[in-house]
Amino acid sequence: MGKQEHYVWWQKGIIYQVYPRSFQDSNGDGVGDLPGILSRLDYLEWLGVDAIWISPIYQSPMADFGYDISDYCSIHPLFGTLDDFDRLLTEVHKRGMKLILDLVPNHTSNQHPWFLESRSSRDNPKRDWYIWRDAGPNGTVPNNWLSVFGGTAWEWDEATQQYYYHAFLKEQPDLNWRNPDLQKAMFDTMRWWLDKGVDGFRVDVMWHMIKDEGFRDNPVNPDYQPHRATYEKLIPIHSTDQPEVHDIVHKMRAVMDEYDDRVMIGEIYLPVERLVMYYGKDNRGTHLPFNFQLLTIPWQSGRIYSVIEEYESALPSGGWPNWVLANHDQPRIISRIGPYQAKIAAMLLLTLRGTPTIYYGEEIAMRDVAIPPNEIRDPQGLNMPGLNLSRDPSRTPMQWDDSEYAGFSKVKPWLRVPYSYPRINVKVEQLHALSMLSFYKTLIDLRRKEPALNIGDYRSVYSDKQIIAYLRQSGDSRFLVVLNLTHRPCYFRPGNYPFEGTIELSTEPERIGLPAKDDLTISGDEGLIVRLKL
Ligand code: GLC
Repeated sequence: MGKQEHYVWWQKGIIYQVYPRSFQDSNGDGVGDLPGILSRLDYLEWLGVDAIWISPIYQSPMADFGYDISDYCSIHPLFGTLDDFDRLLTEVHKRGMKLILDLVPNHTSNQHPWFLESRSSRDNPKRDWYIWRDAGPNGTVPNNWLSVFGGTAWEWDEATQQYYYHAFLKEQPDLNWRNPDLQKAMFDTMRWWLDKGVDGFRVDVMWHMIKDEGFRDNPVNPDYQPHRATYEKLIPIHSTDQPEVHDIVHKMRAVMDEYDDRVMIGEIYLPVERLVMYYGKDNRGTHLPFNFQLLTIPWQSGRIYSVIEEYESALPSGGWPNWVLANHDQPRIISRIGPYQAKIAAMLLLTLRGTPTIYYGEEIAMRDVAIPPNEIRDPQGLNMPGLNLSRDPSRTPMQWDDSEYAGFSKVKPWLRVPYSYPRINVKVEQLHALSMLSFYKTLIDLRRKEPALNIGDYRSVYSDKQIIAYLRQSGDSRFLVVLNLTHRPCYFRPGNYPFEGTIELSTEPERIGLPAKDDLTISGDEGLIVRLKL
């Protein structure tokens, strides 16, 4: 994208993911809700994020905590009412921020009226809105496809004597995106929210949306290891990422384009070369296919450096990058890379080229909370016991202060807070200049202020077995970012890259303001941002 071009909010801005069950409880039921989020908007505005993405808030039996939707156009009473939603949207907009909803088009709840109709008889007009198949010989499942949450992906329906397909829980039957009536119904759902003024959607499991027409068996994964989820026993080449998905994404994008200034983000776990296909032909696909590489690769300088390079060069012309460190399905960053590297991760996320998404609580250094076995709520954990796959540890209540239940609720929350909450919380960290929160705030302020960091070019400068270094530049604003991805000290001597400037930000605050020229000694776990002289 050329310098003179106009950058839109979702390119320049920072996205913040709220998991609504765990952000703020306002009515004393131990579960977060919309008025709760509303009461914390001042915090988000202070933090300096531009857009809030909230995980599903719709009517749902909660088999998968809201990702099993039984009515796309209403709010679950746990979270509040449509009036609460409208108020939230108005207040978000008043503060100059944007609100992004979660759209779950791949599957509904088995309690959705569409599915109730579909399963009522083989000739119901909605039968074909879901994926029904006859049993194989001797009553076996139609093919070998597996559910992400364990076991076969097929569920037998006694009444109509067919199987239906569910990529996730049996309570989450997959929709049939080859059916034009279903497509229209989902596009109308999108319009219903867009008419209200929501600023975009994060589209759940976009790469799952359409399956092989012939329902061929998936091949066995020769690299499967028994400690992994059972889903990984097969390579899902026929059940996900089908060529036809791009037509669907294109049509969804066309709906977004009926409105001004909206964004469509796709949840897609795929290798880079397949991921970038979701930008679509001529960038008419999803605006931001979520780039999850930083949360899937080992935390090693060489790997991170080459992932950035690969991603930058795989992007289609005009395709805008984005980076993610964590979300509600993955361990928190501290629990992956440890507390000392967490500030480095924050620096990386907020200085790379492309839209960053921050998962709630990362900014205060929340870590995965140890949940006793009898308190596990996540179906992924419950269905595959013994593999430690529960996602509850990274979904625990936001830690606001040192009062009981961390200021999240007046009563015992749906998931416990950690013992450490009296020292790891927003209130304490706001007062402490060296806290993670203060560090995030400084980084965010710098990113917002400096064009080099929010829209500037990216150029790799150097990497070795400990360090990565890169340049961000836009006009007169130029920064060199040097990150030590290990605990040991090291030297930054990029022989072919003489530079001179001032340390703008460091994980060692004593260095801020000091001059930097040509080579630097770097402490273990240190990250530096050097403002370069012109
Ligand atoms: C996505 C969601 C996850 C959910 C799954 C099924 O991966 O992020 O939380 O369980 O889809 O809807």
